[in-house]
Formats: sequence, C-alpha cells, structure tokens
Amino acid sequence: MSDKSSSISRRDFIKATVTAIGSLIGALIGIPSVAYLLSPSLRAEEDTDSIPLGALENYPIGVPTRFDFTRTRVNGWERTSVNYGLYVWRKNENEVRVFSDICTHLGCRVNWRPDIEHYISPCHDGHFDIEGNVISGPPPRPLDEFVTHIEDGNLFVTLPPYERSG
Ligand code: FES
Repeated sequence: MSDKSSSISRRDFIKATVTAIGSLIGALIGIPSVAYLLSPSLRAEEDTDSIPLGALENYPIGVPTRFDFTRTRVNGWERTSVNYGLYVWRKNENEVRVFSDICTHLGCRVNWRPDIEHYISPCHDGHFDIEGNVISGPPPRPLDEFVTHIEDGNLFVTLPPYERSG
C-alpha cells in the first residue's frame, strides 16, 4: 500500500517537473518573441524635424538650387515615406531662404526657369518670382518657406514648411 502511494507520488512529481520545465522553456522562447513582435509599436519615434542640406558654401549665391530628399517616418507598424523638393536661394553671403517646390494652387511641383527667373507650375501655368511670391496664374499665395539654421557652416531646414500670406 505504501509502495502504491509512493509510486503515484513519484509519478505526480515527474509530471509536475516535466510541466515546470516545459513552462520554463516556453517562457524563455515566448517572452523574447512577443517582445520582438511588439517592439515596433512601443518604439518611440526617433526622427527629428531638422533636415541637413549640406554645406552652405555648396549653394551658389543668387541662383535657386534644387534639393530633394525622402523622409521615412516609422510610427509603430506604420511606415510612411514622403518626398520633399525644395529650392535653396542664397540671396547674398549672409542670407539664405528655402522654398517648397509645391505649388500653392493644387500642389504640382514648380520648376525654376533661369531664363525668366520664375518658378513655374506646369499644371496651370502659375508663376512665382525668385522669392516665391505669386506673379501670375491661379496660385492663391506664395510658395511655402522653411525655417533655416546654419551650424558649423552646414545648412538645415525644419519640417514642415510654413505658409506665407499673399
Ligand atoms: S497647381 Fe500650380 S497653378 Fe495649378
């Protein structure tokens, strides 16, 4: 009788031990896997809103120079890429302005035409002067402009560009 109860107890002990070891192995594998799968949704956004455009001296004075970049934002599982186009205009040695290439009418991309010194929106023939002000056509306001700053001779812009009133 004592043998039987001892045998059952041994069996229970082995069952409990196997269950405990199985649970431990499951936890060792499962917890890191769940953490790995959830980590993108818990990760803080690391992007900054300051975009480097390179050395200021690389931009010629008096001529708007195009600069394009793509910005990818990761927000949890969502990944969004946005293409930006802008014109850097060094008015003189000390003054620089940066305009968005998005037409303020319906959002077509403007192009700089050096022969007439206008930015032209090809969609409805909107014209802007070198400072982004509307000359003719349907655009309701000037080209949007970026806040700029210079650090160690390098030019930076801050996203997003701001609207200027006409
Ligand atoms: S989108 Fe530029 S003029 Fe219409």
